[in-house]
Amino acid sequence: MIYAKENGRVIPEEDKVFALSGRAKARIAEKGKAAVVNATVGALLDDEGELVVLTSVSEAIKTLKPADYAEYAPIAGTPDFKEAVKKAIFADYDPGCQIEACATPGGTGSLKIAIANYSEPGDKILTHDWCWANYKNICKEHGRDLATFRFFDEDGKFDADDLKQQIEELSKSQDQILLMLNTPAHNPTGYALSLEDWDRVIEVLNGSAVKIALLLDIAYIDYAGEDDEVRAFLPKLAELKENVFVMFGYSASKTLTAYGMRCGAIVCMSKDKEAAAEFKKTAEYTARSTWSNCNRAAQVVMGKVYSDPELLEKVRSERRTYRDMLLARGRAFERALNEEGVKSVPFVAGFFVTVECDDPAGVCAKLEDQDIFCLALPKGIRVSVASMSEAKCVKCAKAIAALIK
Ligand SMILES: Cc1ncc(COP(=O)(O)O)c(C=O)c1O
Repeated sequence: MIYAKENGRVIPEEDKVFALSGRAKARIAEKGKAAVVNATVGALLDDEGELVVLTSVSEAIKTLKPADYAEYAPIAGTPDFKEAVKKAIFADYDPGCQIEACATPGGTGSLKIAIANYSEPGDKILTHDWCWANYKNICKEHGRDLATFRFFDEDGKFDADDLKQQIEELSKSQDQILLMLNTPAHNPTGYALSLEDWDRVIEVLNGSAVKIALLLDIAYIDYAGEDDEVRAFLPKLAELKENVFVMFGYSASKTLTAYGMRCGAIVCMSKDKEAAAEFKKTAEYTARSTWSNCNRAAQVVMGKVYSDPELLEKVRSERRTYRDMLLARGRAFERALNEEGVKSVPFVAGFFVTVECDDPAGVCAKLEDQDIFCLALPKGIRVSVASMSEAKCVKCAKAIAALIK
């Protein structure tokens, strides 16, 4: 008997990524870690395949008192947490406008709040054609759909012209568009919008005939490069006109290696007091009616990290070491691929690199036969350089190149 309603969603028997990772784990149990390349995991693992956990964050967790984790947190998060999130996003930059923050369970919760409140049932949410697959699921969950613009043109450059065209197209049927951009260290390509790309984005959004709600998904920002360089785009946002409302989707999952603590936030910055007040009201309403409030322990830890300069420096310096390890892996993968005459989708930094190809599912099946596990996307293969050593990155790149050349 069927009881559950699909409600316009396509609900698979099992989650593709978790199923794939299950197969990789089973192969590891059979043949041992060294024999298997598991490039499926969306978390940072060390060269031995163990989860990286920042010891500075672990130490901060150990100082929690019972009330820190037992008590309910306020709907929007504790005051210290909200301050911490602002520091985590803006660092030393002062946008000089209204900033509001609301706690969410991970970055995923921020996407839910943006979609629920900045689009209407039946709307299309716009994003880049290469994107985290969950974007579509969250849209569908809310009775919305996902529309995409071409992320890269034929020359591998950011395609602002197509962004403009897709905005114009959606403007024919919607009076407001929610645009979600994942940068820097984009999932799945590792691309980061350059300052020149940002100039084009700003020009396009300022020229839009309809209002734009812009959600910047910065889930991987702290692994994209030097802290100040990856935030160099922030002052550019001040050039946006009043037809654009800016929000950030922040996630502590990667930045604090706190995936399981489900800690994140949605943050808005606006010169318009009314729009900021409305953001606060609606975000808190959605939070209250969905998860009510978030993990207090994680919020207390965030508060501790960002209010203690010594602890913050420890976190930063530890993370820098792992970030450099990750960057070295990404470069090793790219180099090995290029040596075989194959190019990845434009990569700058981050957890993932993607290789475009004609038959991603077929290629991934053949890779599995060689004990190499990668995720097949509609237009290519996603490789998690976050989850394997440099040597395995090279092995994986060469195997992919041999199959698609
Ligand atoms: C692009 C992107 N955004 C947001 C998230 C959300 O992360 P979380 O909810 O685990 O904090 C992820 C997680 O993988 C992601 O890849």
